[in-house]
Amino acid sequence: MEPLGLRAVGSHCSLSEMDDLDLTRALDKPRLKIERKRSFDERSMSELSAGYGMHDSPRGRSVLDTPLSYARNSFEPHPMMAEAWEALRRSMVFFRGHPVGTLAAVDNTTDEVLNYDQVFVRDFVPSALAFLMNGESDIVKHFLLKTLQLQGSEKRVDRFKLGEGVMPASFKVRHDATRGMDHLVADFGETAIGRVAPVDSGFWWIILLRAYTKSTGDLTLSETPECQKGMKLILSLCLAEGFDTFPTLLCADGCSMIDRRMGVYGYPIEIQALFYMALRCALSMMKPDGDGREFIEKITKRLHALSFHMRNYFWLDYQQLNDIYRYKTEEYSHTAVNKFNVMPDSIPEWVFDFMPLRGGYFVGNVGPAHMDFRWFALGNCVSIMSSLATPDQSMAIMDLLEHRWDELVGEMPLKICYPCLEGHEWRIVTGCDPKNTRWSYHNGGSWPVLLWQLTAACIKTGRPQIARRAVDLIESRLHRDCWPEYYDGKLGRYVGKQARKYQTWSIAGYLVAKMLLEDPSHIGMISLEEDKLMKPVIKRSASWPQL
Ligand code: GLC
Repeated sequence: MEPLGLRAVGSHCSLSEMDDLDLTRALDKPRLKIERKRSFDERSMSELSAGYGMHDSPRGRSVLDTPLSYARNSFEPHPMMAEAWEALRRSMVFFRGHPVGTLAAVDNTTDEVLNYDQVFVRDFVPSALAFLMNGESDIVKHFLLKTLQLQGSEKRVDRFKLGEGVMPASFKVRHDATRGMDHLVADFGETAIGRVAPVDSGFWWIILLRAYTKSTGDLTLSETPECQKGMKLILSLCLAEGFDTFPTLLCADGCSMIDRRMGVYGYPIEIQALFYMALRCALSMMKPDGDGREFIEKITKRLHALSFHMRNYFWLDYQQLNDIYRYKTEEYSHTAVNKFNVMPDSIPEWVFDFMPLRGGYFVGNVGPAHMDFRWFALGNCVSIMSSLATPDQSMAIMDLLEHRWDELVGEMPLKICYPCLEGHEWRIVTGCDPKNTRWSYHNGGSWPVLLWQLTAACIKTGRPQIARRAVDLIESRLHRDCWPEYYDGKLGRYVGKQARKYQTWSIAGYLVAKMLLEDPSHIGMISLEEDKLMKPVIKRSASWPQL
C-alpha cells in the first residue's frame, strides 16, 4: 500500500524521484486557477527559474570558504553574503574533529553568554539548510547522528524523568583537558527557563533528516536502523493514546521557538504545523518492515484527522470570522456548528479591522471555548511549506501578508506574532515577563530568522517578489546592526532590548533566503507537495461523521 500517495523509502529513487517529480510539476505549474491580483511585480516560478537557470543542487562540495552560490551566478552577489558565510563558519562547533553544529550566537560584544554558547536543535536548522544548499552535507550528517545519540540518554527535568525519544533543546561540547576528550552535554529543558522540554526539536530533527536525504540523495543515513528507531521514538511520544479528543498535540507553554510563557499552551499552531510536516517527512522515509508498517498506518490516520481539523477549525478568513461572530453557543450533539463552544464575545476587537476581505490565516490556538486569534509567522509559513494549508489557503496567507505588510513585516521581517499583548493581558498571560514586553522578543518582536520561512512560503506559492521585498529590508539593516536576534517596536525599527548580536540563525536565515531565491529548486528540500488523497475541506456541520 502506498500511504497517502507517498512512498516509503525503499530504494534510491523513491524519495528523490517522487519529490523531484512533484517539484517539476510545481515549477511548471501555471498560477493557481483562481483569479488573483499578481503581487508586486510578481513572476511565476517558471519565469523565475528560467531567468536564473535551474540546475541541480550542488553535491559533495568540500571547499569551505567560497560559497558555491557565488560562482554559479553571473550577477554580483550582495556583499552581505560573504560576511554572512564568514560569520556562519565562525559559529561552527566541532566534536572530536568533526563539525557537529553551530552556536546560537557568537556575540563578543557582551559577557552575558547565558545559553547562547550551545547548539540549539531548532537554531541549527537554517544553518543546516545553508550548508546543504552549498553542497556541504557533512556537518548536517554529524549533527543528525550526534543528536540521535543524545536522544537515547537518560534525562531528568528536576525530579521527573522524561520519556525516551525526546530530542534535546540544545547541547554543548565540553572538552575534558585531563583526558584530552570531547563529550556532549545536552539540555532537555532541565536548565532552560521555565523547565520546559522542547516539543519542536524532534520534529525539526525529522524534517532535517528528510532535507539531508533529499539534498544529497544519500538514503543510507535515513535507512539505518538507528535513524528509523530515532524517528519511531519521536513519533511514539506524539502518537501515544491518551485522553485526547482532538488529533492536534497538547502542549505546555514555552515548548518551542517561543520558549517562555506567552499563552500558547494548548494546541499552538507552531507545533501543529511542525507535527504535520514531521509526520509527512517520516512517512516518506519510514521503511515498511517490522513495526514500520504499524507506524505508517498510525501516521496515515493521524495525518488525515490532523489536516481535516486544522484546515477547518484553525482557519480564519473574513467569511469564517463572520460565521464565528454569529455563532450560537451551548450546542449539544454531533450536529453542533460551534464545536468548541467559542463565545463570540471572546473575539478581540482588533481582528475585525485586521481581517481583509481577501486573505486568511491559521489562528494561534483552538481548544475548548478557546480561540487565540493571534497570527503566528512560523506556523503559517510551515503550513504552506508542508502543504498543511490547501493551495487556496496558502494563497490566502500570502494575500494577508501583502495586505497587512505594515503590521506583519513593517521595517524588519518578520513579526513572530501579531498583535502583541499589553497591559493587564500582558500581566496575566506572560506572568509580567520583562523580556516579553509589548512589541518585544516573543511578544510581537520581529525576528530576521523568519525570513527563510517566509521566502520558502513565497517560492512555494509562486510569489517570490514578496520575499525579495523582505530581503531588501533585511539587507538595508541587518549587517549594519551586527545581525541581531530580534527587533522591537510596532514596525520592528529598533534592535531588540536584550537581543544578541551575531545571532547565528539570523545570519543563516538570510543565506537560506538568498540561496532559495537564486535557485528555487532548493525548495524541494523543505517543502512537500499537496497530498491529493487527503480529504478536501468539508463543511463543518457535516464533519463529525467523517472523523
Ligand atoms: C531564545 C529563543 C529560542 C532560541 C534560543 C537560542 O531562547 O526563544 O527560540 O532557540 O534563544 O537562540
